[in-house]
Amino acid sequence: MMAIQQGRILVVGDIMLDRYWFGEVNRISPEAPVPVVRVQSSDERLGGAANVARNIAALGAQAALMGVVGGDEPGKKVAQLLQAEGIKPFLQADPSVATTVKLRVIGRTQQLLRVDFEQIPSQDVLQTKLNDFIQWVKDFDVVIFSDYGKGGLQHIPAMITAAREAGKWVLIDPKGSDWERYRGAHLITPNRGELKEVVGGWNSEDQLTAKAQQVREHLGLEALLVTRSEQGMSLYQPDQVMHVPTVAREVFDVSGAGDTVIATLACGLAAGQSLPASVQLANRAAGIVVGKLGTATVTYQELFAS
Ligand SMILES: Nc1ncnc2c1ncn2[C@@H]1O[C@H](COP(=O)(O)OP(=O)(O)OP(=O)(O)O)[C@@H](O)[C@H]1O
Ligand SMILES: [Mg+2]
Repeated sequence: MMAIQQGRILVVGDIMLDRYWFGEVNRISPEAPVPVVRVQSSDERLGGAANVARNIAALGAQAALMGVVGGDEPGKKVAQLLQAEGIKPFLQADPSVATTVKLRVIGRTQQLLRVDFEQIPSQDVLQTKLNDFIQWVKDFDVVIFSDYGKGGLQHIPAMITAAREAGKWVLIDPKGSDWERYRGAHLITPNRGELKEVVGGWNSEDQLTAKAQQVREHLGLEALLVTRSEQGMSLYQPDQVMHVPTVAREVFDVSGAGDTVIATLACGLAAGQSLPASVQLANRAAGIVVGKLGTATVTYQELFAS
């Protein structure tokens, strides 16, 4: 038995609500050449940073989530879902913005349209978020910054400094090409595309290693974990590289696998496991989650079965 239940993990980042409207399409609109969907049911799921927290809760660790929502109905829905999943909320409500929502309109089985609502939070609310972070970080073992590029992590350099001063693990799932703002974290977990955006491409394993180690050193990181889809993952540490092949047996849906990876990694570290052991655990969890449909999670029982 691994002491996952005692682990206290704070996820900070861009909170989203994934919303689905399902309906029938029986006619074309008289107003424009588009189908008319008569909505019959809907579904809502936690997305973005909230999906990382959901993965932590599913594994049985103590999950908390800090981030901005709007003062609107989707913001209330996020709060409800967090409560239902047993995730401790540290939400900053910003009445001047809409909660980030990705709305999919699905006619029968076909996705017809995705509608995104997203706005950059106000300066005041981002400052409140930083203050809340500095106040609460001491209560956790591991901090995950889940960056989806929506502007919720404007103060990430100050947050990294505060977390490191408090002696916490700092893990980051990056977005975009500006990685300077992640300086001083323990570890970042780019996928292949995200790494490519920053270091350019590579045409051999040796070149990838050289580029990965260079960016790791340049940013003062202890480690870089590159998730490589069907090629598994590679962990770059000073003078050391560990390649872990995927253990996925069936692949149904890879969306959200990156969230499962960083969540499981945090659970391993919070339970006192080494970084390489935690990476092995995260790879096992990823292998399970890609075999499930939808943005799924992995439970403690599934992870430690067999
Ligand atoms: N097609 C695949 N076959 C086998 N394993 C996979 C596949 N895709 C993902 N995985 C597993 O999931 C891990 C994370 O996947 P990936 O590198 O695609 O992350 P990601 O792009 O951040 O995912 P996402 O953004 O969709 O959450 C991989 O390291 C691997 O273990
Ligand atoms: Mg990802």
